[in-house]
Amino acid sequence: MNNQPGVRIGIIGGGLMGREVASALGRWFALENFPVRAEITAVCDLAAKQRDWFRQIPSVKLLTADYAELLASPEVDVVYVAVPHQLHEAIYLDVLKAGKDLLAEKPFGIDLAAARAIAAAARESGRFVRCSSEFPFLPGAQRAWQLAKEGAFGKILEIRSGFHHSSDLDPLKPVNWKRQVRTCGEIGVMGDLGMHAIHIPFRLGWNPKRVYAQLQKVYHERPDGKGGMAPSDTWDNALLHTDLETDGREVPMRFEMKRLAPGETNTWFIEVYGTEGGVKYSTREPKTLWTFQRGKEQLWQRVDLGFHGPFPTITGGIFEPGFPDCFQQMWAAYLAERAGRLDGRFGCVTPGEAVRSHELFAAALLSHREKRAVDLC
Ligand SMILES: NC(=O)c1ccc[n+]([C@@H]2O[C@H](COP(=O)([O-])OP(=O)(O)OC[C@H]3O[C@@H](n4cnc5c(N)ncnc54)[C@H](O)[C@@H]3O)[C@@H](O)[C@H]2O)c1
Repeated sequence: MNNQPGVRIGIIGGGLMGREVASALGRWFALENFPVRAEITAVCDLAAKQRDWFRQIPSVKLLTADYAELLASPEVDVVYVAVPHQLHEAIYLDVLKAGKDLLAEKPFGIDLAAARAIAAAARESGRFVRCSSEFPFLPGAQRAWQLAKEGAFGKILEIRSGFHHSSDLDPLKPVNWKRQVRTCGEIGVMGDLGMHAIHIPFRLGWNPKRVYAQLQKVYHERPDGKGGMAPSDTWDNALLHTDLETDGREVPMRFEMKRLAPGETNTWFIEVYGTEGGVKYSTREPKTLWTFQRGKEQLWQRVDLGFHGPFPTITGGIFEPGFPDCFQQMWAAYLAERAGRLDGRFGCVTPGEAVRSHELFAAALLSHREKRAVDLC
């Protein structure tokens, strides 16, 4: 392990997700025979309290409130940025200008124009740029992807992919930057949860040709945490009914992104139904995969998958995977691909896929506004 090249990682935005990266990299040794060592060397956050949390990590040499200082550091090779969406474009462009590689948080810019500008800069810079989406690295999601790649479903009848949350059902949940258009973006819940839903379908080449969107805004204001109320003006729920052309036929493909889904704490799911086979996987049952087979009788079979991500770890094969595990697997995919060692495994969202997600979300806004289906190029 010690002879392997080390990648030095800087984090801009040490909030919820910045700390998850520290957790994933802090137990990097759990990955078996992984070709790249990785450690966090620098962290930037505006808030002293957030920065202080990172003091417990011995490899962190630089803590700063000014991300220009982090970008100027020769001790940083890759930068992970996890900040509110209105800051994505400026910070991502600065990372590339500084000559660093980038693992960007979704939604890869606050809107389509920002996503296109970031993707163009990534292309011109020649740096290695990918976007975050971790759930497809869970064993069940990987099996769904494999089965779809192998064409195990016969003629595809229908695809559903989505991500559901429920804590916003509480009207007293205080507002935050994710609930306001200025900081989250007009796309609202699509920017928040959409990248997770499109990753596998888009990677399979399932690019929709048109979309009809139903967007919902239920609570228009929320407690501001200071005794008053503040506007909560983003879309809460989004149902994107799309048409996919495959094998010369149109197939319905629905993307579901919800902050108001009763009882669903953090449920990512994918379902594909075909004439010969099918698959269903949901993080509600994290080790359970359902597959369909049409024979003389029609069978839905359930299998317990255990702990088998694309990048082997020391964790026992019968144990259950969770969020920190798929997040670490996503980081392994990023660093393996950067080192040319992905070897056919599933990779992180590419800039092209991120731009296409924004094209879909922009079309969804138009569709909802005009109450019509909108074509996608
Ligand atoms: N992949 C996932 O599962 C997942 C989950 C949640 C959020 N996200 C994404 O991660 C990003 C951040 O979300 P979060 O939940 O971590 O937010 P957060 O509010 O918990 O953290 C954001 C941090 O950025 C800091 N910050 C703001 N402006 C800054 C600046 N100019 N320089 C340095 N630091 C600054 C804040 O102080 C805060 O600590 C968003 O793009 C969000 O969509 C991804």
